Amino acid sequence: MDADRLREDFPILKAGKAIYFDSACTTLKPRQVLEAERAYYEQASGCAGRSAHALAKKTSEMFESSREKAAAFVNAAPEELVWVKNTTEALNLVIRSFDYSQRKKILTTRLEHHSLLLPIMEQQRRGIVKMELLKTNPDGSFDEQSIAATIDRSTALVAIHHTTNTTGMRAPLEKIIKIAHDNGAAVLIDGAQGVPHSGVDFRRLGADFLAFSGHKMLGPTGIGCLVGKSESLEKLDSFIVGGETVESVHIGKVQFMKAPKRFEGGIQNYAGAIGLAAACDYLSKIGMKNVEEHEKKLAKRMIEAVQSVPGAAIYGSPSSEKRSALVSFNLKGVKHHQVALMCDSLSKIALRSGVFCAQPAMESLGAPEGAVRASLYVYNTEKEISLFKETLEKIAKLGN
Ligand SMILES: Cc1ncc(COP(=O)(O)O)c(C=O)c1O
Repeated sequence: MDADRLREDFPILKAGKAIYFDSACTTLKPRQVLEAERAYYEQASGCAGRSAHALAKKTSEMFESSREKAAAFVNAAPEELVWVKNTTEALNLVIRSFDYSQRKKILTTRLEHHSLLLPIMEQQRRGIVKMELLKTNPDGSFDEQSIAATIDRSTALVAIHHTTNTTGMRAPLEKIIKIAHDNGAAVLIDGAQGVPHSGVDFRRLGADFLAFSGHKMLGPTGIGCLVGKSESLEKLDSFIVGGETVESVHIGKVQFMKAPKRFEGGIQNYAGAIGLAAACDYLSKIGMKNVEEHEKKLAKRMIEAVQSVPGAAIYGSPSSEKRSALVSFNLKGVKHHQVALMCDSLSKIALRSGVFCAQPAMESLGAPEGAVRASLYVYNTEKEISLFKETLEKIAKLGN
């Protein structure tokens, strides 16, 4: 994979506006994605599945072929993919619409993003579920022995990350899914940081639901996917209802459509879906194996670079084998926001600082006040990491 050549596709990088190390927040977009979104407005600009005119038909074709591409990207069938706004909406959809009439326990971990934790905490506040935590260690790894003891026949749902946004480390999903299914529980995977960085195969993984966002994988903002096994989607209650979710409506009597349409109320983000399909094409052309390999190299360099800076402490495992290209750290004596601001002003390096919408995770990793996060992607290079290291060395002198 040639990151230098790929960079030509990204208008922001071509214009030299930043060294972009904030891809876990949102990625940059290549011109192919921007052009695909524009093509919708220029060539169709209608509504899908409603009117009979040619522009509406063209919209339906573009929209449904985008569904096929996004589903194929994670090895799912088109009818298993529901368009949503983002991962947050997909997680809310499942957690709030799941049937807890027979079992009330939801298992999750401290390492989750607020978008997964908060819907569960809300359901608990309403007395609908009982939330319990799988045991994790301060280095971000799992206490694997305790998994079998924690998941039992009162567990309705295990809701868990594929990869965290605080350390870039993965959950032991195979084991968790197996034990959950052995106990008759369903599994919801937060794939926001997994799908963009590793080849996630929904069929092989065997989970019931998978959520991810377009904007974290070179696609547009405002579009994401909930992928679910058909029988698992059918068991969910309605979520957002309205136009195009129904077969027929009479006052007092509604016949809803089957999934995925049942969950797609109102006019959809057609341009976003088409842009996300273009992002899937773009990543498939690179090959997800190559993306993973590139990230492993960057992670190794990044860990070495940060560890060489006096007073730097990395959160999570120091092994690059266990991570995507994401590293969170603190510098002794310099506040995380200050480090991020100085990297921006000295070297135009874009970083994230704070608790990354994962406060309990940062507490459990030993950084309750937060940290600095560098998260890299297909367009980043080792040369950029060298400049980052030099910049950090200058900043570290302030704290020593
Ligand atoms: C692990 C994880 N889950 C969920 C989300 C929420 O994603 P979105 O804001 O696209 O809904 C994020 C966003 O950073 C994330 O990193």
